[in-house]
Amino acid sequence: MIEVLTNEYRLLSLPADAESVELDMGCGKGKFTLELAQRYPKRLVLASDVMLGRLRRIEQKVLHQKIPNVRLLRAESAQLVRFQLPWRSVDRIHILCPDPWPKEDKRPLRRLVSTQFLCTLPRVLKPGGTLHLSTDHQPYFEAWQEMLAKLPFFTPDPGAIADVRDLKTDFELQWEAQGKSVGHLAFRLGN
Ligand SMILES: C[S@@+](CC[C@H](N)C(=O)[O-])C[C@H]1O[C@@H](n2cnc3c(N)ncnc32)[C@H](O)[C@@H]1O
Repeated sequence: MIEVLTNEYRLLSLPADAESVELDMGCGKGKFTLELAQRYPKRLVLASDVMLGRLRRIEQKVLHQKIPNVRLLRAESAQLVRFQLPWRSVDRIHILCPDPWPKEDKRPLRRLVSTQFLCTLPRVLKPGGTLHLSTDHQPYFEAWQEMLAKLPFFTPDPGAIADVRDLKTDFELQWEAQGKSVGHLAFRLGN
């Protein structure tokens, strides 16, 4: 028997009048999403996560605070990029404090950011669009630098996140409260 996993679908058309489209991938509790959307009301902010409960709590805040420019997507990140988002539809992708799966010897396939994953991003990023990554986990950070240095279609562009560098995610605040520092990287699609 085939079970229905979700019982409601709504087609989301990306509004043509949005100044830009930002994607907070693995948005968690949504602090970054909400602050980004409130700061830049003309931008459309897509927030995706696999955990429905987290998205529901963000939805309550979006409704309570009347934030019109947020759309919540329950989606697995790799699938979202490979199959769900329209071609060249996003100006900036934020992947902030993704689970580092530190026991990589046992769980090499669970990390989201791999060379294979990075190679799928040009499908959804607009030319000149930005990839923004952050983590407190130094080995993951170094692995990103190594992978991205080998991908000719990404160019380092730290200035591309200047407008959001002061916005902190829930996890970033948590790590900083524990005395850890969170490193950020920004790369532009194209030269
Ligand atoms: C460590 S939390 C970080 C949340 C948020 N970005 C922050 O910094 O506070 C990682 C989030 O990514 C989500 N997540 C993990 N793997 C995912 C995947 N493959 N697809 C979509 N969401 C995922 C988790 O449910 C969780 O909310």
